[in-house]
Amino acid sequence: MNVGMVGCGKLGLMVALSIESRGHWVRGYDISAAPKQYLLKREIPFKEAHSEELLRKTQMEMVSLEELCQWADILFLAPQTPHIDAYEGATPLPDTRADFNYDYLVECVREVNRYLIQRTPCVVISTVLPGTIEREVLPIIGAKFDLVYSPQFIAMGTVYNDFLNPEFWLIGARSPAAATLLAHFYETICYGAPALKTDIRTAEGIKVLYNTFITAKTVLANLYGEMAHRCGMKVDDIYRALELSTRRLISTKYLKAGMGDGGGCHPRDNIALSWLARNVNLSYDFFESLMVAREKHCEFLADLVEEYRWQVHQLPVVILGRAFKPETNIDTGSPARLLSFILKRRGVAHSCTEDKDVTKAPHLVFIGCQHERYTRYQFAPGSIVIDPFRYMPDVPGVEVIRIGEGERRGVLSSKDRALQSAALLDPRAV
Ligand SMILES: NC(=O)c1ccc[n+]([C@@H]2O[C@H](COP(=O)([O-])OP(=O)(O)OC[C@H]3O[C@@H](n4cnc5c(N)ncnc54)[C@H](O)[C@@H]3O)[C@@H](O)[C@H]2O)c1
Repeated sequence: MNVGMVGCGKLGLMVALSIESRGHWVRGYDISAAPKQYLLKREIPFKEAHSEELLRKTQMEMVSLEELCQWADILFLAPQTPHIDAYEGATPLPDTRADFNYDYLVECVREVNRYLIQRTPCVVISTVLPGTIEREVLPIIGAKFDLVYSPQFIAMGTVYNDFLNPEFWLIGARSPAAATLLAHFYETICYGAPALKTDIRTAEGIKVLYNTFITAKTVLANLYGEMAHRCGMKVDDIYRALELSTRRLISTKYLKAGMGDGGGCHPRDNIALSWLARNVNLSYDFFESLMVAREKHCEFLADLVEEYRWQVHQLPVVILGRAFKPETNIDTGSPARLLSFILKRRGVAHSCTEDKDVTKAPHLVFIGCQHERYTRYQFAPGSIVIDPFRYMPDVPGVEVIRIGEGERRGVLSSKDRALQSAALLDPRAV
């Protein structure tokens, strides 16, 4: 295939050379003269594994954008989406926050759109926050710009290996045809790697949240290291134990959004550890942060209950399921009880129970625990069911709201609404 790379910087050039190494023809375009010089001198200023060999063999040429758009069967776009230095992580976290700068991406898309003469898959691989493509890119492209968002999970220094051996290909597309076409192309790069196809907004989120997962793991590892140092434990033994926990910790368990954890151990252990953290003067009480985050999540759920109750109908509220985990009736430390506490503190009349007859009158039901039997409940028509686990089936005449399922619903918390209004005024300032 003829593959065009627009934006041949640290990511784009190495990805282009990697694609070429799989037998495709590759050409590039860049607003900077530097990539052309790299190809001429067969040398790049940044250290990248396999770059010498790839540069020695390459027949890649830099051409005009017009020529590239006419020649390519598929175009990749990899312009920078920079942050200012203060957001790089090499200095203390500033008080302010900002989105990435999308000026290069917007300009790059605008230019490509201008030169396309036939419908061409245009694959954006730059890093953006969720919602960016819809806001910044979709309004400026025409029908020939067949947009796919497909970022790579690549680390600088190992672009060649990471690109050619992905855990999975991430494909965010509007049309199934474009997603299928790109998946076929990726099969020629790494046969057998699964393709995760989703919508563009979710793909944008997956790219950055994948990185957050790594940050969370390293923060935890370093927290344990500091604890070990301060309390006289051996951190590598702690991690040997965690590595052996392949049935629960190092597994696909606990990777489902729903309610916080509970029971007779987790919350109280974390609260005791928070005491210990203060006692040994830990540099940061992450245990407290975990418990606060767990509580704030319940505040968010309480916001949802309140909004639906007041904005849609004034229905009696019930938290259905107060146990700390499915198929038990033990409710020690349960997040459903925490939600109930918060609703009570806010003056929202409700019941919080394991079972209730909801067949005779409509209710606003919040599923507080993922008991299987609730899927067979006969809710009275007119009921609203809020399901944080996304497992409840559709019920005729009942509105089932599955949290985090995709389309954002119209009901917003007051905090969300304030944020959204600010974002509409200036998306980069929030
Ligand atoms: N470097 C990596 O390993 C890596 C990994 C994952 C994701 N990313 C993401 O990929 C994107 C690119 O990162 P990078 O490190 O390669 O940046 P970079 O600054 O090294 O390269 C970007 C290139 O795009 C060019 N460019 C800008 N506007 C252009 C336009 N209108 N037309 C043509 N070329 C244009 C620039 O001249 C530059 O050569 C960023 O969003 C980054 O976050 C990078």
